[in-house]
Amino acid sequence: MTDCANQLQRYKFEVPEIVFGRGMLSQVGSCARRLGGRKIFLVSDQGLFNAGWVDQVMKSLLEARLEFVYFDQITINPRDVDIEEGAREYLRQGADVIVGLGGGSAMDAAKGIAILSANGGRIQDFEGNDRIIRPLPPMVLCPTTCGTGSDVSQFAIITDTKKRCKLTIMSRCVAPDISLTDPDTLSTLPEEYICTTATDALSHALEAYFSIASTTLTDVHAVKAIRLLKGNLVEAVREQTPDAMENLSRASLHAGMAFSNSLLGIVHALAHPIGGYYNANHGSINAVLLPEVIRYDLPVVTEKLSELAWGLGHKEACNDKEASEVVQGEVESLLEACSAPRSLRSLGVKREDLPELANRALNDACLITSPRQADAKDLLTILERAY
Ligand SMILES: [Fe+2]
Repeated sequence: MTDCANQLQRYKFEVPEIVFGRGMLSQVGSCARRLGGRKIFLVSDQGLFNAGWVDQVMKSLLEARLEFVYFDQITINPRDVDIEEGAREYLRQGADVIVGLGGGSAMDAAKGIAILSANGGRIQDFEGNDRIIRPLPPMVLCPTTCGTGSDVSQFAIITDTKKRCKLTIMSRCVAPDISLTDPDTLSTLPEEYICTTATDALSHALEAYFSIASTTLTDVHAVKAIRLLKGNLVEAVREQTPDAMENLSRASLHAGMAFSNSLLGIVHALAHPIGGYYNANHGSINAVLLPEVIRYDLPVVTEKLSELAWGLGHKEACNDKEASEVVQGEVESLLEACSAPRSLRSLGVKREDLPELANRALNDACLITSPRQADAKDLLTILERAY
């Protein structure tokens, strides 16, 4: 039996309990109660408060006769210092369940607070794979964008403010107990964020699909996510119809389930140091890197490219060359639909920083599952081409 066959036959696939549907934010209270909560630590941000979604969650908690504490000291790319403050507040208040409402920043902040409140220490102590010792408090995570996947994933990404880099924490422990998606929350998401979070979902799905840890089960979710993006992105960006927005929520969920179990690749390995260094938008960085990384991976993913071309409905793509052109074309049109940025320069990245960014990416956990190995020189070449 080949290694490849072994890999196909031995795998595990883990996801939280999933609650999905319009209006389901009203169920947050009952979910938290079901997890044994009495005093809930609610993590969200000012934007969601202003949009009225935090109020809806508070109402649901009150209806479930639960006390709560509201914590909103979080930023885009959540910072280590905010996580530490959140954990202190969680312990001071004697809370027992964490609810995170928002995009990747709010949900990763909720995860970071859960880690420190149960384990103590600094968030840096948990960087890497399986470094968490003590079990975390129960969590309900409610995504309000169409891309992060943090609500189902085994990742938490936190910014180290001193080193200006992102810490990737990978552990089964950080997947929440319940992922609750209410697609209605996308109705107040600005168009810019629809685009940047959808490009993040696209990157998750593609990197999960090409990952060396991918399985038949993760492939199903990855392809479903790409098909949903393909079928709904234009309508979602132009008209924000409820159906199209709901399907983007679904795409995010499928992409999240795929990458949480098969992990990622070079796009995210490079996006993390760039995001930490410049505090730049994660989805925008991914959008710039994605075409270059696909080009880099092409020689080693031909078989999967053909399957993907078929999965996307291109039965006419008969050979490797046609399949790769079809998939690259699909990715290009999705990025175009999002008016995605096309260069690192346009994101404020400085050319002289590229070697340092390539070096930092070498330590990122996402590089481990890249289908094609890359050293610092390869990573620098990708960055230069994307510049
Ligand atoms: Fe991402």
